[in-house]
Amino acid sequence: MDDHRRWPEPVVPVQSLSDSGLTSVPEKYVKPTSDRPSLEAQLDPGLTMPVVDLRGIYDGSVDSRSAMATIWDACKEWGFFQVINHGVRPDLVEEMKGVWREFFRRPLDEKQGYANSPATYEGYGSRVGVEKGAVLDWGDYYFLHLLPRSITSHDRHWPARPSTLRKVTEEYGGEVFKLCGALLRVLSMGLGLDEEYLRRAFGGDGTAACVRVNLYPKCPQPELTLGLSPHSDPGGLTVLLADDHVEGLQVRKDGAWLTVQPVPGAFIVNVGDQIEVISNGIYKSVDHRVIANSKDERLSIAFFYNPEGDVAIGPARKLLTPQLPPLYPCITFNEYRMYVRKRGPSGKSQMKSLKLY
Ligand code: OGA
Ligand code: NI
Repeated sequence: MDDHRRWPEPVVPVQSLSDSGLTSVPEKYVKPTSDRPSLEAQLDPGLTMPVVDLRGIYDGSVDSRSAMATIWDACKEWGFFQVINHGVRPDLVEEMKGVWREFFRRPLDEKQGYANSPATYEGYGSRVGVEKGAVLDWGDYYFLHLLPRSITSHDRHWPARPSTLRKVTEEYGGEVFKLCGALLRVLSMGLGLDEEYLRRAFGGDGTAACVRVNLYPKCPQPELTLGLSPHSDPGGLTVLLADDHVEGLQVRKDGAWLTVQPVPGAFIVNVGDQIEVISNGIYKSVDHRVIANSKDERLSIAFFYNPEGDVAIGPARKLLTPQLPPLYPCITFNEYRMYVRKRGPSGKSQMKSLKLY
């Protein structure tokens, strides 16, 4: 029977494999040749993801128009951009990384006390998808719901240690949530819609937020596996706090994989599937993946701004004409997410299967 509420086989934290000092990657993590990161295939190294200074947008200065135009173009051509002067306090960002690093350093059995299940994914986990025998990714994560308050993760899902983890994570989440609100206004304007359009379409006060903290332990044979397989993010907008020192994220650009160079203090923002749907394909939700690394462990913190679960999401009517019919049907995010939760990361297959044309 297809049971999407239970793991099909025991889950082994990758951190425990890495710490055991093994010198080769177990077979379960070895990708088919075509999916392995080929270290040669590189795009023009001069090609870099746009970096936007948000200061102008907050203070409404003359620079705000060009910052907005950079964001609009980036959402159309890259599906990704980086932001600096984003308004989230640098000390809070550092604390956030600090508490989660500390959590991942706790003893294994303590972490496993928070082991998650695919029913809600909340807690400590090492896989996405319930297909038996799937090739796994070289990474562990912790997943939590932050908003709306009505579905906030229960106490038992929050790590008790370090003791400041919950407070820091909630405060960080609140700040990044505000940043997403500001970005959504910019994105709405770029579509010629009223400023509040996207926020309203996401369910207004019912808008959801969750966080996924990723730990990619050192890997003895990074050329055979991936830290995180190619996927597009199913939700609305993602704000990624990537490791300042260790690269790993790759973004699909012009058919090849581009390694993103960390910019200290920046967030990496990307368009999720729901914004591609609402914009009727004008903004792109782009495939990305994470490569493993033999020298350094890598930590990243992804904040997901998602629509309220049971609100129907479809292309904005104002964007449709007889020449530009809707490319996607209207479905709720809860229905949409079920696909990813069963199959795990699988490129843009979900978007493709939905497409009307
Ligand atoms: C994700 C993701 C990228 C990274 O969590 O959805 O794409 O660099 N993470 O960890
Ligand atoms: Ni992602």
